Amino acid sequence: MNIDLSDSESGIIDSKNVFGGSDNSVDCGVGLFCSSREVLSGVGVVIGNELISGFTFKLSIVIDGKFPAAAAGQFIMIRLFDNIGLLLGRPLAIYRVRRGDVAFGGNDVVEVIYFVVGRLTGRFSELVVGSRVYFWGPLGRGFDVGFNGHTILVAGGVGYTPFLMLAECLRGVGKVTLLYGARSADRLAPLKDFADLGVDVRIATDDGSVGFCGVVTKLLPDVYENGESARVLCCGPAAMLKAAFNVANDLGLPCVVSLETPMSCGLGLCYGCVVKVKDENDPNGWSYKRTCVEGPAFDAYKLVNFQTAD
Ligand SMILES: Cc1cc2nc3c(=O)[nH]c(=O)nc-3n(C[C@H](O)[C@H](O)[C@H](O)COP(=O)(O)OP(=O)(O)OC[C@H]3O[C@@H](n4cnc5c(N)ncnc54)[C@H](O)[C@@H]3O)c2cc1C
Ligand code: FES
Repeated sequence: MNIDLSDSESGIIDSKNVFGGSDNSVDCGVGLFCSSREVLSGVGVVIGNELISGFTFKLSIVIDGKFPAAAAGQFIMIRLFDNIGLLLGRPLAIYRVRRGDVAFGGNDVVEVIYFVVGRLTGRFSELVVGSRVYFWGPLGRGFDVGFNGHTILVAGGVGYTPFLMLAECLRGVGKVTLLYGARSADRLAPLKDFADLGVDVRIATDDGSVGFCGVVTKLLPDVYENGESARVLCCGPAAMLKAAFNVANDLGLPCVVSLETPMSCGLGLCYGCVVKVKDENDPNGWSYKRTCVEGPAFDAYKLVNFQTAD
């Protein structure tokens, strides 16, 4: 397939521009979190935008050349190429990067999966093969990939997307279980990519149409073997994150949550994505951290809003 990746018309973002990033790997108490050193901005061409389950699409874009090394859990900002009214991008977790795809001239292909919730994701669903989008990424800090115990992933809705690259990294290193919750069978994500990596996938639906009937966090105590080295990583709706944290806390397990805080720049410039994080060096006992730079993965024990009873 011939894809023209040569130009950028608007000049708002160069067609291809690599920012030198700093190595901001930080030890958050749970382990070493990784981040990419480079952020690439540019124009990508849509090569696929398929409906994979209710209101959920997989968008594949080919970029001109190589996408920088992306850590599991990092995200990318995407905005429309041709719509001046929707200037801001939207953050989407990087699901997978296909390196040097021969079908697309040896260029890299970035895959994201999005759930249609509003204005921009609604417009994303109208993209067709050959459409162009602006992107910038990879952004944020990824998950700790140096853990060789039992990683228990808890995902709700489309919250499984940052976990595929992590499961790839942990293959052959540690045991991985994915607890996945959806409202009903028609909203269920296709999780074959995880099963293919040997991940133990357990499903819960609110209406019991597939798997366990009830909230996904109820599965957590069942998959944790008393005394084993384990950690809990979560991504999904805020209520699910808090419920998973409460169970992890009861079990005495480390817990990291990947937040889906709304974002504008994704680059640490606007401070529109801050969350309160405990900080013993601050007189308040907490300080603001930007989800797009210091996150999106945070130690749940350090998030101020997670310490309340709701
Ligand atoms: C790091 C990160 C990774 C993400 N990864 C994914 C992903 O892989 N797949 C995916 O489907 N989504 C992901 N999201 C969420 C996604 O960015 C939002 O769904 C998207 O921005 C909505 O844009 P929109 O223009 O369609 O909705 P808008 O028109 O902006 O909003 C529509 C409605 O949704 C609400 N809303 C919008 N964004 C959020 C939010 N983040 N949290 C709570 N309510 C919100 C608004 O208040 C409004 O009511 C991620 C978010 C972050 C921060
Ligand atoms: S989105 Fe601008 S600082 Fe995070």
